[in-house]
Amino acid sequence: MEKGYTLITGASQGIGREMAKYCAQKGMNLLLVALPNEHLEDTVKEIETDYLVKVDHLAIDLCQLDAAQQVYDWTIQKGYEVHILINNAGFGDSGFFEDIPFQKTVNMLLLNNLAAVSMTHLFLPQMKKRGHGHIMGTSSIEGILIMPYKASYSATKRFIYSFFLALRQECKKAGVNVSVLCPGPVPTTPGAIQRIKVQGKKAEIITRSVDHVAEIAISKMLKKQGIIIPGRLLRTVVLGTWLIPFSIKMWFFERMSRRYADQRVEMMKKQVAVK
Ligand SMILES: NC(=O)c1ccc[n+]([C@@H]2O[C@H](COP(=O)([O-])OP(=O)(O)OC[C@H]3O[C@@H](n4cnc5c(N)ncnc54)[C@H](OP(=O)(O)O)[C@@H]3O)[C@@H](O)[C@H]2O)c1
Repeated sequence: MEKGYTLITGASQGIGREMAKYCAQKGMNLLLVALPNEHLEDTVKEIETDYLVKVDHLAIDLCQLDAAQQVYDWTIQKGYEVHILINNAGFGDSGFFEDIPFQKTVNMLLLNNLAAVSMTHLFLPQMKKRGHGHIMGTSSIEGILIMPYKASYSATKRFIYSFFLALRQECKKAGVNVSVLCPGPVPTTPGAIQRIKVQGKKAEIITRSVDHVAEIAISKMLKKQGIIIPGRLLRTVVLGTWLIPFSIKMWFFERMSRRYADQRVEMMKKQVAVK
């Protein structure tokens, strides 16, 4: 198994937390990064109690412009060698683009894209010097497919997909593996569960449990797979969409995800009524 440390962002809940537990099971030492709250401390305690690995954590808001530098400086100060970097922290929102508070969209860009790119920029040179290492970006099926009513989220995930796949080719000769994880729906947050419900059967059949996604992500990354799409049916759906003409595909996606916008408009109407 890999020596050194595996650094996971967004490791206190959801997919990140399950990836941390799966890595610990495999004997990998961990550095966990997430927002400062009880979720992060609970995750650290659980891993310390259940597994014989070294684990440390840093509570930080990765939306800050200098957050990645702070994370990097912390690892240098503590003498931690990061051999695996998993850029997992991210969030999304849905509805008409103009209905989503703009600061939320800005934070989405900062967390989903800038934090991942900055972390990679800082940790990649030492991996190249060592001649080995893994870096994973977390995209989404919605980054591959392009989703109306999730324009910003879908675009941040498209960026991650494109950035890490291009980087993968650049890093091959240096011995550093770069992978990109593209999950379909995963019931993690109440918001994610609600979105799966809104889409009904279509979403349910491609939904995978959080521990399944985490296990596939880590095991395929260690096998140096480029694009990791958990679930055979989901992979088939993606391949199928590549065969459909773009305008037909976008017409279908618009119809399919219009419910997100309707739901947000309803929510906004209720808020106005309460005021
Ligand atoms: N769930 C899905 O259906 C799905 C599908 C495709 C792709 N993805 C992607 O997979 C990744 C994980 O999703 P998830 O559903 O597991 O998310 P989640 O359950 O909401 O967990 C997100 C993690 O990121 C941390 N985080 C959030 N904002 C942060 C910030 N500003 N600074 C530092 N850490 C922050 C959270 O910390 P706190 O616990 O402190 O809030 C938490 O540990 C995301 O990139 C997401 O876009 C998810």
